Amino acid sequence: MPEIAYLNGEFLPIEMATVPIEDRGYQFGDAVYEGIASYNGNLFYLEAHLDRLERSMKALSFPVVSRDKIKKAILELFKRSGIARAFIYLQISRGVAPRNHSFPDSADVQFIMTIRPVNEVPEKIKKEGAAAITIKDIRWGRCDVKTVQLLPNVMAKQKAIEAGVQDTIFVTEDEVVREATSSNVFIVVQEKLITHPLTANILPGITRAVIIDICRELNWPVMERFYNITELYGADEVFLTGTTTEVLAIIKVDDHTIGNGKVGPISKRLLEALQERGRH
Ligand code: PDD
Repeated sequence: MPEIAYLNGEFLPIEMATVPIEDRGYQFGDAVYEGIASYNGNLFYLEAHLDRLERSMKALSFPVVSRDKIKKAILELFKRSGIARAFIYLQISRGVAPRNHSFPDSADVQFIMTIRPVNEVPEKIKKEGAAAITIKDIRWGRCDVKTVQLLPNVMAKQKAIEAGVQDTIFVTEDEVVREATSSNVFIVVQEKLITHPLTANILPGITRAVIIDICRELNWPVMERFYNITELYGADEVFLTGTTTEVLAIIKVDDHTIGNGKVGPISKRLLEALQERGRH
């Protein structure tokens, strides 16, 4: 199962793939990315990831890169690796040019990818639930654009690790719950699901959208509305959604036990339903 890289049209071992030091992704965080997983040899919602990538590039006024070219490269990388349960990291930067804040006059975008087996959430945590802490959301005003500027997320995730928990949830000054460091958040209150609406303050997660779709199929009401930390602490269930997170039940937030401290039935059912979709 080779772990391989893609670098502007070439496939090569990951350790051989390098970008020049004047890449704008490296110097300015001037790059967008996607993370795509596969189940049993099928890429999960590839078209939705391509849609979001196009949207990110448009939001940052990137030069147009052919969707067809991107898709073909992804499929070729996936085929070459032969990894059935893979995670593809894809990044497109504005290119390589002498350091200058304004856009370069002429530079080709740098398109890189890596493919590796998914770094799964440990089985015990999936089964027994995870714990999280909260942190003030200090991120910029366009969290809906999937850029590599992830320093607040990196710092917040590290804080979770140091606190001995799995993740950190961003909450605003006025206590609105946004999302976690690399996943969206849902709460369940009296069998109704609530999640933050799609605004510029959260990433429009593909898994979030799939979960909402599954809930519609199951006739489970989902409210896309703002909710605060008191509702989070008092919820019957809390779960995270994301490409590698899948559906991860949160049984403790800060010092508050969620529900009865066990993985709730709705979180459990939704994880099964998500994985079921991955099999088709
Ligand atoms: N993270 N919110 C944030 C801030 C994210 O970075 C991600 C994804 C999500 C969930 O989106 P999706 O369901 O499309 O994976 C929500 C990726 C996986 C990452 O950074 O590795």
